[in-house]
Amino acid sequence: MAVREILKMGDSRLLRTAEPVQSFGTPELYGLIADMLGTMAAARGAGLAAPQIGVNLQVVIFGSDLPNPRYPEAPLVPRTVLINPRITVVGSEQEEGWEGCLSVPGLRGRVPRWQTIGYQGFDAEGRAIDRVVEGFHARVVQHECDHLIGRLYPTRMRDLSAFGFTEVLFPQLLGADDD
Ligand code: NI
Repeated sequence: MAVREILKMGDSRLLRTAEPVQSFGTPELYGLIADMLGTMAAARGAGLAAPQIGVNLQVVIFGSDLPNPRYPEAPLVPRTVLINPRITVVGSEQEEGWEGCLSVPGLRGRVPRWQTIGYQGFDAEGRAIDRVVEGFHARVVQHECDHLIGRLYPTRMRDLSAFGFTEVLFPQLLGADDD
């Protein structure tokens, strides 16, 4: 396991469309996932997509078994490795919520997302994942899957007046938040 460098906004590698994983259960895939888990833990992220460490594959990880100090109010999302994901929108409701991104360090913005989604994909062994989720869980999945189509959250914002530095917007997070 290695803690990898996280690419920052402005790096053109964050703007690519990621390729699907072709082979499951391989040492290469396990190595990638181990690096992603280690990198996300070191950065205390709520999620991470492979393109953020420069690997142009459809692999995202998110969730944790413990509350995240960067999002102390957020409900727990189960720790998940999601490969070759597809999202389907359920209903027509959107909601605005604050997001940050390890590739956009030090900033937060209010982003509209679908309130309820279904998502399908595979785990590292190639077993199917098929869930319907809502709220923060749905938000995290939409954010991470956006990385696979070259989208960062500021490009989803409707109101750039709700975009600012974490230390100004959420001073109570100081010390828990080093992004
Ligand atoms: Ni992100």
